[in-house]
Amino acid sequence: MHQEEILLTGGKTNLGSIVRVGDTVRRPLNNNSTFVHKFLQYLENINFDASPRFLGIDEKGREIISYIQGDVPSNVGYYSDEQLIVAAKLIQRFHDATTGCELANNEEIICHNDLSPCNFVFIDDMPTSIIDFEMAAPGTRILDTSRYSSVNLLRKPAIQFHSSVYSLIQLIQSRIWMR
Ligand SMILES: Nc1ncnc2c1ncn2[C@@H]1O[C@H](COP(=O)(O)OP(=O)(O)O)[C@@H](O)[C@H]1O
Ligand SMILES: [Mg+2]
Repeated sequence: MHQEEILLTGGKTNLGSIVRVGDTVRRPLNNNSTFVHKFLQYLENINFDASPRFLGIDEKGREIISYIQGDVPSNVGYYSDEQLIVAAKLIQRFHDATTGCELANNEEIICHNDLSPCNFVFIDDMPTSIIDFEMAAPGTRILDTSRYSSVNLLRKPAIQFHSSVYSLIQLIQSRIWMR
């Protein structure tokens, strides 16, 4: 059955080549795709509920992942303390979920490596899921929450998001460690 392809325009890296088909998203493959597919399957196996599911490769050679309902900001924007706290907790939950994964190859965690607000799905204005795992790779929590592209560094809202999330994660972790 032929299903309509709807262009998804929020991202920049793959602008023009990401489409929604029914409840799925189709994205082009790249050199990191094999790793990403294994990683998404790992997250599914441990029942991590805030990332898309890997569903296979389609007849056009694109990866098929599940479409997550909600809103994805097209620009970095400004965020309230409450939104930043929710984002920090979500990132920490994601990092926690990746510890002990064989794919981390003895590194601390598996980094998403592009934790821009534009790669979060928001529901009722709160970040609830993470998308766009194409740069995922073994690394450290600190790197994942503090590494920005030079473009993002020049954009104040991005700094606000990243630096606040980073300090919030440190705060949350220090509270956990102090218990
Ligand atoms: N799994 C998904 N669920 C819902 N929307 C998605 C999903 N994957 C991508 N999108 C939408 O497509 C846009 C571009 O996807 P993304 O994977 O972020 O590509 P890019 O690498 O170009 O940033 C996102 O901004 C979002 O709106
Ligand atoms: Mg993106």
